[in-house]
Amino acid sequence: MAEVINKEKKEKQKLWGGRFSEDNNPLFVRFNESLSFDYRLLPYDIKATKAFTEALCDINVLSDSELQALHQALAEIEHEVNDNPYLIQQAINDGVEDIHTFVEQSLVDKIGDLAYKANTGRSRNEQVSCATRLWVLEHIEHLCDLIKALQAAFVAQAKANVDVFVMGYTHLQQAQPITWGHYFLSFYEMLKRDYARLLDIKKRVNVSPLGMGAIAGNAWHLDRQKMANVLGFNEIAQNSLDAVSDRDYIIELLAAISLIGTHLSRFAEDMIIYSTTEFGLVEMSDLVTTGSSLMPQKKNPDAMELVRGKAGRLNGYLVALLTTVKALPSGYNKDLQEDKEALFAAVDTVSDLLKVTTITVESLVVNKDKNYDGSFCVATELADYLSKKGIAFRKAHHIVGEITAYALSENKSLTDLTLSEFQHFSVMIDDDVYQVLSIESAVNSKTAMGGTAVANVAKAISAIEEIMQAAI
Ligand code: ARG
Repeated sequence: MAEVINKEKKEKQKLWGGRFSEDNNPLFVRFNESLSFDYRLLPYDIKATKAFTEALCDINVLSDSELQALHQALAEIEHEVNDNPYLIQQAINDGVEDIHTFVEQSLVDKIGDLAYKANTGRSRNEQVSCATRLWVLEHIEHLCDLIKALQAAFVAQAKANVDVFVMGYTHLQQAQPITWGHYFLSFYEMLKRDYARLLDIKKRVNVSPLGMGAIAGNAWHLDRQKMANVLGFNEIAQNSLDAVSDRDYIIELLAAISLIGTHLSRFAEDMIIYSTTEFGLVEMSDLVTTGSSLMPQKKNPDAMELVRGKAGRLNGYLVALLTTVKALPSGYNKDLQEDKEALFAAVDTVSDLLKVTTITVESLVVNKDKNYDGSFCVATELADYLSKKGIAFRKAHHIVGEITAYALSENKSLTDLTLSEFQHFSVMIDDDVYQVLSIESAVNSKTAMGGTAVANVAKAISAIEEIMQAAI
């Protein structure tokens, strides 16, 4: 008797037990299962199952009362798992393969044989794609919200420091002075592209695979468009063979996430360098820094280091899935189950990166007193000055190079040079040269659209604020 019950239990655990006479190896059961991570698809799988059973009702496979019983049971399953997440762990222990199996078996427990009708003509191949697409759509929304919050933090810092000068670096060598406002808006722009990329990807996620079957389509004359409408999809997939194994939308998302990570990692790198005693450009708040167990003076930028570090992992998820998909034969292959761990981990990780970076930016203090007197970062101004007096820029550049070498050899800065020293290199230089060699004039000369002049940046901030206001 116990054996009969046991066999029944085991059969119930599998959706495909009919042709099998032997049990799976327990190690293989553990290896094969995805419930330990795809449990996150539960609400989406239930939503899709509701839409699918409605379509079955429309073609009279289910009666109205059967549909009602199924929907009622589906709602209960969702509630019960919400109230007691341990039910999932129990199912994993019992060897339940995946979330789709879990839902079907939970239905069987509640309403018996009627449950077996819910998946008439439906394959897990379309089910998993449908639920994952719904999950991705919702999470793209979350990511967009997090990007907006970080953008707002950058804009607030830009506004608070619109006219505070800071060194601009190329090759991490002093290049030209800019403003902190300009610096912060550069990250606003990167995030703007990230945001746009997510919205663009969303179009291709927003396609319903429901009714595509295992590979060949559906034989039950289901109204696919209606199911798609119920689920809020914009379109329906056009080819069942493609639809059941298309994971482009996840790969695209992972690529977009990698780029977000890349942008945040570059910001993190800046903050790590800029907060050193040697640079002394910013101070990060206690909210996001740690001390050393040995050296009492230390304030370590752990948050930014982890943002930089975890960005590497985001690239890994992308490469992992690209590699999984690249040589798959047409149609569904179980390899595709690997998509979800990469997807979930990437979305979770990048969400954390966005949140931690937002806190870091909001609480960042820039050093307004940094003094750049004596810096050669105004050398380009001198070349511009000579060009404006009629010397071709390339020649002017050469003259300024000679002046710089001379000043360095004399241990002087450009502004320390006397007029006669300047005139030794070019008679075109007058005593108005000292005006153009100030940091302020260097910054404010960059008035072409997109440049760092204070007025430009202030204007850019106003324009961005209007856009942000309109979006609320
Ligand atoms: N757990 C599977 C996955 O994530 C669901 C689809 C299984 N389909 C199948 N034919 N075995 O891909």
